This record gives sequence, C-alpha cells and structure tokens, in this order.
Amino acid sequence: MSPNADSHSQSTLCVHADDPLNTLPASADGEITDVAPALHVSTTYRFNKDPEKLVEAKDCDLFTNRDTHIYSRETTPNTTRLEAILSSICGGRALCYSSGLSATFAAYTYLKPKKVSIGGGYHGTHGVLSIQHRLTGVTKIPLDCPAEDLSPGDVIHIETPFNPTGEAYDLQYYADKAHSRGAFLVVDSTFGPPGLQDPFKHGADLVMHSGTKYFGGHSDLLCGVLVASPQREDWFKGLWMDRMDLGSVMGNMESWLTVRSLRTLELRVTRQSRNADKIVDWLDKGMNDSSIDDDEGKAASDVSLIKPHVTKLYHASLQARDPSNAWLPIQMPNGYGPVFALHLATPEMARRFPSYLELFHHATSLGGVESLVEWRAMSDETIDRRLVRFSIGVEDVEDLIEDIRGALRKLEAWNKEQERGQK
Ligand SMILES: Cc1ncc(COP(=O)(O)O)c(C=O)c1O
Repeated sequence: MSPNADSHSQSTLCVHADDPLNTLPASADGEITDVAPALHVSTTYRFNKDPEKLVEAKDCDLFTNRDTHIYSRETTPNTTRLEAILSSICGGRALCYSSGLSATFAAYTYLKPKKVSIGGGYHGTHGVLSIQHRLTGVTKIPLDCPAEDLSPGDVIHIETPFNPTGEAYDLQYYADKAHSRGAFLVVDSTFGPPGLQDPFKHGADLVMHSGTKYFGGHSDLLCGVLVASPQREDWFKGLWMDRMDLGSVMGNMESWLTVRSLRTLELRVTRQSRNADKIVDWLDKGMNDSSIDDDEGKAASDVSLIKPHVTKLYHASLQARDPSNAWLPIQMPNGYGPVFALHLATPEMARRFPSYLELFHHATSLGGVESLVEWRAMSDETIDRRLVRFSIGVEDVEDLIEDIRGALRKLEAWNKEQERGQK
C-alpha cells in the first residue's frame, strides 16, 4: 500500500510519500534500490528506445499518460519527488517554484484579479503586486474593506502568521468574506507550515509557501510552493502550464536538498515552535512582573532586565490567551510558530541588541535550524525601527534564554554608560 494522508500521519508521509517513485521509467524497468534519493542533474531525458512506444506530443496528456521526464523546465525526478511529498502533507496538489516570490508571482499571473484585499505583511509580496499592477492594472484595497468592495474573481490575500510579528489572522472569517462575493482566499502560510496549520480546513483556495524557510529548514536553498485546494484542481493544471512557460522552476540541487529536509520537517517545526512559545512566555512574564516569586531570585532579576528594555511583544501564542480569539487554537492546534517580534525601548537599543547575542545569528530570513535575530529596519524600510524579529531554531531553549539574558545585561550596561555620559 502506498503511504497516503488517510492512513498515515504527517511525519510518516514526510519520509515515505515518495516511495512509489522508487521505480525506473517503464522504458528501463526495475526498481531503484537507493534508500537516499539520487541527485539527478540532467536537463533532458532520453525518449523510449522502442519506436513503437514513442508517444507524439499531440497525443500526450501531460497529466495522465507520460511515463518519462522530457525536459527539466517541465518535470525532473527531484521536483517530482518533492511535489509528491508536499502534495501528501499539504492536502492538495503542490507545485514548486524557484523562490517564494516566484510562486506568488505565478499565483497572481494565473488568477489575474482586478482587486487584492491585503494588509501589511512581507514587503516582497507588495513588490510582486506592484509588478502585477504594471501588467494588469490590479489594485490593492485594505484588508478590512467592506465585503461589498470585492467582486467575483478578486482575491483576499492573508499572510498568517504574519511577517514580521508572528501574529495570526482568522482564516475562516476571511474565507467566508471572500466567498460571499465570489472572490478567492489566497493564504501565504510560510510562517505556519504543515503540522502547525492547514489553511484548506479553513476555506483557503490557494496556499503559498516560501519553502526557503521551513521546508528547506537549513538556510541553504530557495524554494516556493503553490498548493491548489482539492476544489480547484483545474487551477493546478493552469498553474503547471504557466510555470512551464514562465520557466520559474526549482533547480535540481535545491529540489533534492528540500526532499532531504522534509524528512525532518515535523521534528524541526514542532521543536522550534515549542521553543518560541517558551521564550515568549518568559519575556511576557518579565514584562508583566508575574514571575517575581520564582526561586533563587533569578526571575526577579529577569524582570529587572526585561521590563525596562522590552516595551512590546508580539506572537500568536499571546493572542491565543484572549478568549475572543477562540478560533486561534483551532487554526493552530500544535503550536503558534517559531517567529516572534518585540520592540526595544529605543531604535538605538534595537540596533545594538543583535550584536550582543552569541548564539543567534544577526541575519534576515527565518525557518532554519539555527536561531536568527534581525533588527528589522535592516531589510524593511517601512517598519518601526524599534522592532527586532526572532526566528527560533532547534537549539536547547534554556541556552537561548540565557543568551537573551546575557544580551539584555549588555544592553543595560550600555544604557547606563549613556546615561552617565549625559550627566
Ligand atoms: C511571509 C513570506 N512570504 C514570502 C516570502 C518570499 O520568499 P522567498 O524569499 O523564498 O522568495 C518571504 C520571505 O521572507 C516571507 O517571509
């Protein structure tokens, strides 16, 4: 029996959903015996040696009767494996692209909405929409626009959890709003990979991921993914044809690396998310004095470190504490994601803080096994300059907390020096 989503859990599918591809093409026969998939680098593939078995292009249905790869802008062994695994864990047919933004571009090229209702979120997505505006005249309207402003074929674009704060949006609410007007819900689920949330359960029509983040998971590849909902099977075919002509396919090496990475997706993401929840909880207690009675006075000193420096904290786990957000634990039943953000008291503190950390790399991006921190003003000119974004990795959470403690101590010392200098 082939592993499938009805009989196997996500962690099993990540390791076995591509098992049925362990066969050679019909032209060669037999079984591939490699346990670790081979890396195929060819751009072109030999046709069948038997002239009787050649299927002419005019008789070839790309989606049903092809038994071989032809040219790597169409399919390759590595991307086919990757798409088999992603389709099984994402709950719809998946297509891979050369990057997250090329997937977003492909989505809007195919859907061609007249209006896109969108909030803030990743600035690159807005860059894609301004190119689309040049091409098609599409306009952006606010996320909280009245439903009446949407027409059939328009799109509500939701990024959840949301870059850079890691806060979440209620998908079902926006799905209902879009569908009430014949519009579609497109979800950028980069911050909530499979295992943390399934946007199709909450009405999404098309799901996009920057696979560069959690699917890759090791900060060493670019990847974009689109998944059409099972109700939009026809979109899959259209997107597939568009991708062949746009040429925005994933490279062989990157696809092979992503298959390698997906084997551990669940282990990585659940641990990273649990680590983030713990760090956010620790910071929140420090901001609100509630750990003051802890043992050995350590918690009290944490309060004196955190409270004067951290002025705001953002993460879906904090939103989930509010009873009016009862939808959130339903949408994200296994954790609230490894990314969160905070404000330090001044932009100058936010500029210095990342350099005081030892374990966290000061770098943009997220989703890798290593923890990253970013003074967000480095890559987003629209953002509050006090904002620092964290992407939590798989390290021991107590080591990460100790690292943040150490950095806050250095910030405190720097701040005192500044105050002394001003006297
Ligand atoms: C939410 C979100 N969407 C899309 C992208 C773009 O992905 P890529 O860098 O793979 O093009 C990013 C990149 O950071 C992102 O954070």
